[in-house]
Amino acid sequence: MGVKIIVGQIIHCVAPYSVAVIDSGFVIIDECGKIAAIGNASDLETTKKQLNLVAEDTLSLTKTQLLLPGFIDTHIHAPQYSNAGLGYDKPLLEWLDNYTYNLEKKYRDQNFCGTVFQAVVRKTLNHGTTTACYFGSLFYESSLLLATAVAELGQRAFVGKVNMTKLAPDDYVETPEESIENTLKFIKGVADLGNALVQPIITPRFALSVDLEHMKKLGVIAKERDLHIQTHISENKDEVEMVVQLYHDAYANVYDKAGLLTSKTVLAHGIYLSEEEIKLLSERQTSIAHCPESNVNLGSGICDVVNLRQNGVTVGLGTDVAGGASPSIINAMKSAISASTHLSFTKENYKPLNYEDVFYLATLGGAKALSLDDKIGNFQIGKSFDAVIVDLDVENSSVDYLSDCTPQELLQKLVFLGDDRNVIKVYVNGKIVK
Ligand code: GUN
Ligand code: FE
Repeated sequence: MGVKIIVGQIIHCVAPYSVAVIDSGFVIIDECGKIAAIGNASDLETTKKQLNLVAEDTLSLTKTQLLLPGFIDTHIHAPQYSNAGLGYDKPLLEWLDNYTYNLEKKYRDQNFCGTVFQAVVRKTLNHGTTTACYFGSLFYESSLLLATAVAELGQRAFVGKVNMTKLAPDDYVETPEESIENTLKFIKGVADLGNALVQPIITPRFALSVDLEHMKKLGVIAKERDLHIQTHISENKDEVEMVVQLYHDAYANVYDKAGLLTSKTVLAHGIYLSEEEIKLLSERQTSIAHCPESNVNLGSGICDVVNLRQNGVTVGLGTDVAGGASPSIINAMKSAISASTHLSFTKENYKPLNYEDVFYLATLGGAKALSLDDKIGNFQIGKSFDAVIVDLDVENSSVDYLSDCTPQELLQKLVFLGDDRNVIKVYVNGKIVK
């Protein structure tokens, strides 16, 4: 891989909820896929001299194209992909019983897994997801096949083997002992892939699927090995009530007692968190994966991202396939604006999320939520070049480009009208993956 230069309109976030636009810019990517320089195109020649660059591969973007950081999906269930669009007439717990577990338990069959995992990773890459945080299935062998598909197709990802000992069919649970043993096998299996872009993540399904002692053991494994953690929290009112009845404590406190709230933990949903629970998450530097499309499909509710932000909780976006039907973070950005706007109708002086806010959530916010903001999320020098090139003038797409647009307007068109047809190139760690 040689040195690459991309010249054109660039948009990225330089700080939380702060978007920077370079109307005519450049990025230089070194042989290792890291960002060597970024600036205004007028300074390119001087920078090249300073860096002593000779032969290089330069790509000049058109005026309908943008260079953006790659999109980050902080919550997606790969094995549920073939259920996308199904069962949304049922609320969460019924949907899990009627659709989700019945599909996920088929992943005992490894022939079935391979095809689906290749398809979901290919699909998310095509939509510009350069990093994904995946739930696998209960089976460590199948979850390893997911990690393998991710490695083969060149995505950056966390992959989790789900831990679940109850509240699911008898042939889709493990004993706590099996669960721990298979988690350790899974962690070793991912390490054996030897791909720095793919990391294991500790994945208790949610507080109703595992008991406290088991969660504590998973917390110890995460601590000893410095691993990330993911689970669900406060998604649905019935779920929250069952958790409170079972543990006689607030949802977030249960995870805290288990040692699962760390700065490397990402919790999906967080719709019904109390102010005390939000404060606790903020203190623990635990993040929320906001999954707006899923929250509507399953009739779960609306997460108040503005309130989380005001209380210092980091938020990223998740598709939550198959609670969400769409594998696209572009769609998640639009859904997040819609959810926030609906919330604003019922609140006084409430400023909903706008296109810049959701662009932050999709990029640097997602990177922070996954504690990867030292590596990815924007075009800071030294970070890995995870990026997408989008074009808002592509034939046969949803966008008709009929008059000139500023870079900010192109971004708005992408958020409200764009899809995978507008994502024309995708890079992970400097390597083209679409
Ligand atoms: N809570 C526990 N499991 C799941 C799941 O698979 N999807 C969603 N959306 N919520 C969950
Ligand atoms: Fe989920």
